Amino acid sequence: MDTIRDIDTVDIDLSEPAVVAIDQRLLPNEVRLLRLRTEEEIYDAIKALAVRGAPAIGVCAALGIYVVAERISRESASDEEFIKEYIAASDYIDSSRPTAVNLSWALRRMKKCLLTQYETEEVERESVLLTLQREAVAIRDEDIEMCKKIGEYGAELISDGDGILTHCNAGRLATVRYGTATSPMYRAFGQGKNIKVYCDETRPLLQGARLTSYELFSAGIDTTVICDGMSASLMRDGRIQMVIVGCDRVAANGDVANKIGTSMVAAVAHYYGVPFYVAGPGSPIDLSTPTGRDIVIEQRDGSEVTDKWYEKPMAPKGVGVYNPAFDVTDAALITGIITERGILRAPYTESLKEVFKK
Ligand code: MRU
Repeated sequence: MDTIRDIDTVDIDLSEPAVVAIDQRLLPNEVRLLRLRTEEEIYDAIKALAVRGAPAIGVCAALGIYVVAERISRESASDEEFIKEYIAASDYIDSSRPTAVNLSWALRRMKKCLLTQYETEEVERESVLLTLQREAVAIRDEDIEMCKKIGEYGAELISDGDGILTHCNAGRLATVRYGTATSPMYRAFGQGKNIKVYCDETRPLLQGARLTSYELFSAGIDTTVICDGMSASLMRDGRIQMVIVGCDRVAANGDVANKIGTSMVAAVAHYYGVPFYVAGPGSPIDLSTPTGRDIVIEQRDGSEVTDKWYEKPMAPKGVGVYNPAFDVTDAALITGIITERGILRAPYTESLKEVFKK
């Protein structure tokens, strides 16, 4: 297998059952599929970024907890034991990464689906499992549809000849298909618009260089990788007409958590008058988090900065390393949020509530 274009990033093999996911640690050099069956395998795949990107993590957790539930059900003598073990496995998977709200959103939705069924007195385990399976598959299918819609709305913002900058990977590899930030690009390209995409390499884990440039380039889009510090000079030279990035969590006031470095891009874009768009479906929108200050930012091992890609460590042994995986972009720097329900504009406190408060 040597291409990702015909494979969904995260899927389920119902015959086993197992979650089937592209191992993103190996890209762009090797396309290999993982088969995840236990809560430990799912936790490890998310923690190690084999499966990464907020929507893909959510889908992996939803499909994964169904797979785990199937086993737990076989091992549990009573419904009480089944529910107790299910909740323990769900909480464990939920603890793998803290920032992308899709993870807890998907697991909460699955747990609600389980517990609601036990509110009815007589319920067969087989039917409980089937309903859980349908809910997990619905989460996967909705992700595909939402990303497609984001592409339709977002492509309207793109003109023939535009240079577009993106940061990290909010592409098909971060979702099931299409991506969020990349969906408008694929759509605009499909409409025959001539676009040029610049991918920030995205230190320290290089999602931009390894993943975004790989998927866009292999789709035939004019793609250029740049180092993270280069975008200001491109904006100053007028080579970038818009920035589109993804999001891991959108707070109620419109502050956005995304890959570390995003807020720097937003500040520079603001300075040079380049529109800065965030693309994301409803799943990372978290109206229960008031502002970006309330978002927990994942801290990762310093060796990702100093050792990971180098033959020898590139910083002195023992030196301090700061490695937050995400930052928060102030709502004031965001031109619009491209969602599956349209493009939201400031004031976000109002537009988010109006569109996403159920
Ligand atoms: O640490 P990662 O690779 O999971 O971070 C991913 C990002 O920051 C993406 O931009 C975000 O999840 C949006 S993906 C559609």
